[in-house]
Amino acid sequence: PRKIIIDTDPGQDDAVAILLALASPEEIEVLGVVAVAGNVPLALTQKNARIVCELAGRPDVPVFAGRDAPLDRILVTAEHVHGKTGLDGPPLPEPTMPLQDKDGVDFIVETLRAEPEGTVTLVPIGPLTNIAAAFVAAPDIVERVQEIVLMGGAYFEVGNITPAAEFNIYVDPEAAEIVFNSGVPLTVMPLDVTHKALTSEAIVQRFRDMGTEVGRMVAAWTDFFERFDMKKYGSEGAPLHDPCTVAYLIRPDLFEGRHINVEIEVASPLTRGMTVADWWGVTNRPANAMFMGTIDRDGFYELIVDRLGRYA
Ligand code: BDR
Ligand code: CA
Repeated sequence: PRKIIIDTDPGQDDAVAILLALASPEEIEVLGVVAVAGNVPLALTQKNARIVCELAGRPDVPVFAGRDAPLDRILVTAEHVHGKTGLDGPPLPEPTMPLQDKDGVDFIVETLRAEPEGTVTLVPIGPLTNIAAAFVAAPDIVERVQEIVLMGGAYFEVGNITPAAEFNIYVDPEAAEIVFNSGVPLTVMPLDVTHKALTSEAIVQRFRDMGTEVGRMVAAWTDFFERFDMKKYGSEGAPLHDPCTVAYLIRPDLFEGRHINVEIEVASPLTRGMTVADWWGVTNRPANAMFMGTIDRDGFYELIVDRLGRYA
């Protein structure tokens, strides 16, 4: 299996990504989960990450808290999407598994130094603060990363938090710039992909029909999450943004994209956090990212239903 670190700000869709990874031990070994400030403040994202690991029956997965604010900006959160707790839906239990004492950024650095070079993949599904902080603190780890598979950005779909920017990149554009310029092989799941990964009533019913706690929670989470996109875009169904990254690690054939140059706007207040993607190759700037554009939606949901169905 491929060794990964999930860097996350749960988030209903983050939660499904974590559940999908932990249900797929043949393909994926989760070395740790690191929380970052994003959808809600760090105190809540680290707690939510532990709730999700416990829901998966995996209190043995080490959960760390990373940075509580972007590198150079005031934190912007998304309670309007995810609710007050970040994981609104059914009432949540208090987690009983511990938060690790070690700082999450230190965990990323130490793990990359300890594991053989080129064997650890980073899966950031929130703002890129922790990853960038690790790269700045320990430049020697950059070339040790196998790949970064992240959710963030948009090109044809433009933005969701502003007209020009997707949330994860917008929150910490300086961090995104560091990551996109790091030279690490990047695979990016932008809104162009994730807005095609919408749930349907039939899919949510299949979650419910599992008759398990995981099925019940995921159905309720996607129901809660859906109301935002319905109001905003008039679309039916919730976009499961973050699970696209984990699905890619299991079934890369579900996605298609282009290896292109992507730059991050950090200077303009109007277009802060925009991912300027040279989809048509009109510059000579070197390619730095596999920027995905399409998803096999049916295959994606078959995978999710199959894997989540493994939980007792
Ligand atoms: C991203 O922002 C968050 O609200 C979601 O969890 C996802 O990571 C989508 O723009
Ligand atoms: Ca997220």
